[in-house]
Amino acid sequence: MRHSAVSKISSAQGRKPAFQPIGDPISIEEFAADVRRGLTKDGQKELYSKYLYDDVGSALFDVITTLPEYGLFRADARLLRRHSASLAAAVGRPSLVIELGSGSGSKTRWILSELAVKQPIAYCPVDISEAALHRCWLELGYIDSVSIIPIAQSYLDGMDQALRLRPAGTSVLVLFLGSTIGNFDPDRAREFLTAVRHALEPGDVFYLSTDLEKDLNRMIAAYDDPIGATAAFNLNLLARINRDLGGNFDLSQFRHEARYDTRAHRIEMHLRSTRNQSVSVGKDLAVRFKRGETIWTESSYKFQRHDIRELAHATGFKCQAQWVDEEWPFAQSVLRVL
Ligand code: AVI
Repeated sequence: MRHSAVSKISSAQGRKPAFQPIGDPISIEEFAADVRRGLTKDGQKELYSKYLYDDVGSALFDVITTLPEYGLFRADARLLRRHSASLAAAVGRPSLVIELGSGSGSKTRWILSELAVKQPIAYCPVDISEAALHRCWLELGYIDSVSIIPIAQSYLDGMDQALRLRPAGTSVLVLFLGSTIGNFDPDRAREFLTAVRHALEPGDVFYLSTDLEKDLNRMIAAYDDPIGATAAFNLNLLARINRDLGGNFDLSQFRHEARYDTRAHRIEMHLRSTRNQSVSVGKDLAVRFKRGETIWTESSYKFQRHDIRELAHATGFKCQAQWVDEEWPFAQSVLRVL
């Protein structure tokens, strides 16, 4: 940890402080070990989707959120705008708001403004991308009565760190927006919600956004847009390996691919090798690719409304309210800790 959280809070209450996130983001050694494991495993090669978000990847993701084809982001924003008063009423008077995977935090403004009318709020965006946290800090730093404490950390570790800032006897609102839960496979999603539930206290609220299953063409277009922004986002993972780990991926020999698995209810992003080739990463890793072979880089699960209620129930939450966007089927659920 690079700074004391306490000193950050006190400085945040006066003049706008310098941007100094708390936390220890992912190390280069961990990245290298995960890349080695994912590219040398038997069968389907894979890379964890969390590595899509270096500075370049986070900026590309921000571009994706503006694409007409990527309706998720606007649906999430519409619901937050429309229901922030009801959400504020449902959570009572939290003094701490934690956002997991905040990205640039641009949708969070409405709920923070709504809550800060009642009392001062400490807002902890948690993200592994310092670049995204910096944009979030710039974007939301001007809201009256809101102190921002950015935490550059994985979701659960960052949440634990943020929860230490809870003033005694007050409730906490945890936001998990953007359907980021869809990037976890179902077992991990359940484990994750269980861990969140155990870290929270009765009366706290977990606010969960989920993209709903819809027409196949709309779902595919959201992950394979005509200007190639999502392709660039995906290919940047190989460019990141070249930059950070000394790889020699030739990006022109890999193609972005998005497909929908109707049985598993998930979009899959892959990078397909267009020829037989060998790639080295650093001094002692060489990986062979057959023509047509893919690296699986991300899953985005799509949900039915009842899936979320069942998941909530199975992990110790009560689904107190659920709001759905009709334009782009998408749900936000208020999950209360019992
Ligand atoms: C962050 N996450 C919810 C996005 C999604 O839709 O799964 C990431 C993304 N991948 C491609 N486009 C956007």
